Amino acid sequence: MTDAWPVVPPAAGTPACGPPTSAPDGGWQVTRYADVRAVLTDPAFVVPAVDAGPPGTLAWLRATVSRFSAPHLHAERRAIGVSALAALDPDELRREAARLTAATLDRAGDRVDVMTELARPVPLRVLAGRLGLADPVAAGTAVAVVAAAYHPGVDPTLLRRADAAVAALLALSPPAPPQVRANLIGLLVQACDATAGLVGAAAHHLLTPAALRATAGIDGGDLLAEVLRLDPPVRATRRVTTAAVRVGGQDLPAGSPALLRFDAANRDPLAFAEPTVFRPGRPGAGPLTFGAGERGCPGDRHALSLAGGMFDVLRERCQRTRAALRHEPHPTLRVPTSLEVSVR
Ligand code: HEM
Repeated sequence: MTDAWPVVPPAAGTPACGPPTSAPDGGWQVTRYADVRAVLTDPAFVVPAVDAGPPGTLAWLRATVSRFSAPHLHAERRAIGVSALAALDPDELRREAARLTAATLDRAGDRVDVMTELARPVPLRVLAGRLGLADPVAAGTAVAVVAAAYHPGVDPTLLRRADAAVAALLALSPPAPPQVRANLIGLLVQACDATAGLVGAAAHHLLTPAALRATAGIDGGDLLAEVLRLDPPVRATRRVTTAAVRVGGQDLPAGSPALLRFDAANRDPLAFAEPTVFRPGRPGAGPLTFGAGERGCPGDRHALSLAGGMFDVLRERCQRTRAALRHEPHPTLRVPTSLEVSVR
């Protein structure tokens, strides 16, 4: 059986695994599984600081969410998101995502674009509704605008629209102190591209006629885990050193930026036997795509429920029509632009 599983080549630009390497600009790239885990759990590495901005703007949102917070502010802000997520039932999220997916397919003709019709809107609509936003469809649209401008260093022309979208989301959020509202919106923004990317990658790899045959009867969770490992929607994350620190045999000076490559670490032969082979249910280490440590993704179960509910319906009713695929331009995320399937 295992011989039948395909090799999934790395996405363009995925580095090979090896000791940390430095670039001429002083930045470091960390690619081995053990090194990435060590950095994620080492307090000498912090998330790079972001600039603050006037209340209600994108810059304010970034500076107020846990994701980009300095260590002394992080725990309190993260707890806001964690407690909001604890009130959601992952099984109910799964059922609702499946229901909305089936309803969209029922309304569609014989073809549907998974990205625009399903992977982008459905998870946000479900989450926004469950988190108490007044108009989940409008909230989902605004979240996508914010997400496009959220990570520092994106095209500055996106910022003005994102400011308006943050204002719209604040107006749709339930009454609460600004920090609470920011971190509820932060949940949606964090969920946006990564969950869409996971659904898109799953559709790309698993809805071809051959893949549907090979994976019939296999647990959807095991399939998604291999998609997360071999084609991660979050390819990397950033840290900066606060002190001189040794990682993977290399000395990084204080103030060094570090890019942690999940896409490379997930293919580390020291962590995964036959790392390039798509093997659902493989024993041992899990992928690093949700991060690790105190800042690891608090929405991992929710993401898997939403994507799992959608994927169950897609594998039942859809087939990939063309294999070619393009992705949104982004330094660290990998989200297909469009992906057509036939529907039955
Ligand atoms: C496939 C989908 C997802 C992936 C791959 C993913 C991945 C990640 C990763 C890697 C981080 C840590 C980044 C770092 O340490 O630098 C993170 C953080 C975070 N994620 Fe996710 N995520 C996903 C979906 C979600 C969903 C659905 C939610 C909410 C419902 C969510 C909420 C968050 C939040 C709030 C943080 C920041 C945590 C903190 O500040 O401590 N994510 N995610």
